[in-house]
Amino acid sequence: MRTALVAGNWKMNGTRASAQALLAELLAGLSAAPAQAQVVVCPPFTLIPLVAELLAGGASVSYGAQDVATEKSGAYTGEIAAAMLTDYGCRYAIVGHSERRALYGETDAIVAAKYTAARTGGLIPIACVGETLQEREAGQTEVVVARQLDALLALGNEALAAGVIAYEPVWAIGTGKTATPEQAQEVHRFIRARLAAQSATVAEGLQILYGGSVKGSNAATLFAQPDIDGGLIGGASLSAAEFLQIIRAAG
Ligand code: PGA
Repeated sequence: MRTALVAGNWKMNGTRASAQALLAELLAGLSAAPAQAQVVVCPPFTLIPLVAELLAGGASVSYGAQDVATEKSGAYTGEIAAAMLTDYGCRYAIVGHSERRALYGETDAIVAAKYTAARTGGLIPIACVGETLQEREAGQTEVVVARQLDALLALGNEALAAGVIAYEPVWAIGTGKTATPEQAQEVHRFIRARLAAQSATVAEGLQILYGGSVKGSNAATLFAQPDIDGGLIGGASLSAAEFLQIIRAAG
């Protein structure tokens, strides 16, 4: 049985004050009713020291980064390495988010390199895959997701087993247009089957999250699907009440 995981991707949002308020409300909600799911927040880099401080002492919430450098250290202006993140207690790093693929030119090869950098640097990579609206309408969903996935499958079973996959249809991200539970499940099943073709054990154990306009009101039906093991939550993770409702839905 796979444990459910709910991860919040704060994207480029938040100040010290807003992060403090958000986490205080989240922790209060979780202490009133402990989560059945693993809970992770991914703040922007600048807020990681504060989040580390606020979640210190075995809090029920883990945290991670939204990206990680492919390299370990050196002359890479603006980059943040895995070791800098684990230095602050980060456990996770999102890699290959569609915004990074589309806006910053991250290729499947770069995403695979980031996956490896995260994993070998002591972080659990949350690798995102997903098709655009144009690709879906052209009937290319499986082709695109398979191509993105194969770059990770090539890293081998041990590497795969150490990560998390997030299926995020690009047309559903931040648009309010959630995939239906059936649409999401269809792709999740496809992803798990493709993993199973390489290793049934890895496929069975791997958490596959859904992301794209998940809200308190639609989370439960998505998470009820057999191959959906939780969610990667953008906008709704900035509201403690919404995020708590989503966490409960994954319980
Ligand atoms: P959204 O974002 O929940 O705001 O659609 C999800 C994501 O980009 O991870």
